[in-house]
Amino acid sequence: MLEQRRIVVAVTGGVAAFKAAYLVRRLIEQGAEVRTVMTQTATQFIGPATLAALSGHAPVTSLFGDDSVSPHTELAQWAEVIVVAPATTATIARLAHGISEDAVSATVVAARCPVIIAPAMHTEMWEYPATQRNVAQLAADGVIIAGPTEGVLAGGDSGAGRMVEPEEIVAAVSRALGVRDLDGVSVVVTAGGTREPIDPVRYVGNRSSGKMGNAIALDAARRGAMVTLVTTAPAPTHPNIAVLEVETAQQMAEATWEAAATAQVAVFAAAVADFRPSDVSAGKIRRAEGLPTVTFEPTPDVLKGVVEMPDGPFVVGFAAEVGSVDAAVDKAQRKGVDLLIANDVAKAGSGFGTDTNEVTLVRSDGSTESWELMSKAAVARRLWDVVVAQRLAGAS
Ligand code: CTP
Repeated sequence: MLEQRRIVVAVTGGVAAFKAAYLVRRLIEQGAEVRTVMTQTATQFIGPATLAALSGHAPVTSLFGDDSVSPHTELAQWAEVIVVAPATTATIARLAHGISEDAVSATVVAARCPVIIAPAMHTEMWEYPATQRNVAQLAADGVIIAGPTEGVLAGGDSGAGRMVEPEEIVAAVSRALGVRDLDGVSVVVTAGGTREPIDPVRYVGNRSSGKMGNAIALDAARRGAMVTLVTTAPAPTHPNIAVLEVETAQQMAEATWEAAATAQVAVFAAAVADFRPSDVSAGKIRRAEGLPTVTFEPTPDVLKGVVEMPDGPFVVGFAAEVGSVDAAVDKAQRKGVDLLIANDVAKAGSGFGTDTNEVTLVRSDGSTESWELMSKAAVARRLWDVVVAQRLAGAS
């Protein structure tokens, strides 16, 4: 996937530095050429010999004294992408202000290629206003911010600030390099809200716009996947997207089950009606006939049918909740999905019809990760980073 791509891994001084060794190994496994650079503090956490052995090249640890007269500019010019992992509070502050005073900050400041930073620190340090300002500044400058996530931190604390797993950083690297990391992968996405007829002119529907599912289909297609988009809503055009227009839950189920039988990943972004009118009137129900009584019957659970497939695809479910998203953890396990994206549709900027979304990622082990408010396109990109990372982890 990353054959002969030139990647610099820059390591700064945090406990998560041990994961940098694993990241280097993962990148090498993908065929990349890797060079490393460390701050002096990083050398307290991980030995330069480890990175040298894994990458085949001694890390740059100082701006002076090594063989080169200008190691930072040489590295910066060589790199197609630089990943700072872990990125400490101090390094983030330096980079946000263009302060070049050690081998890592000098290399990044001298670079013209994409830069990814993977922050790692205690929750208090992550939430410190200056850190947040600095990260926002770096993002505005075009730096790609990978994570952090929530979980166990150094010293046994738990919270936001944990570095994302190396596989996710590999996915971010591939994306930054425009690598088609879903090349040849078959994906099915459901989108939009189903419409269940009452009579020939009326239906029971919901407020789903299809925007989240469209963004997911489009990003997968751009990454090389062959996408079947089963939708009730207007769909994006892309050579890798085959659109199957449906209206009811029954039609969505039939189309999705057929496509999912040969897919590797299935994402269920549609708002599917759980109930449909049991007797659809053949003619228009007339006002003069008085108040109609509509009775309901259950619809097929599209997602459940796919989860139950033997050797079925990797499944990503969605859960539109109102109020707290706590119920989503239970729902993820009950439904047997690999990942669940939960959002509070009553929250401003989230849910139906908006261009943005604030979601919580729930993994199959019940762990959660809240993502800040971002565009639906950004949610889609980050979701695919996670899926690509899990496929990578599963393949090893
Ligand atoms: N889903 C589906 N088919 C259905 C209902 C839901 O494929 N008939 C999918 C949705 O696309 C979503 C996930 O299942 O990815 C969860 O949907 P949700 O409506 O939150 O689940 P329910 O079990 O219906 O829970 P609730 O009672 O909260 O509505």
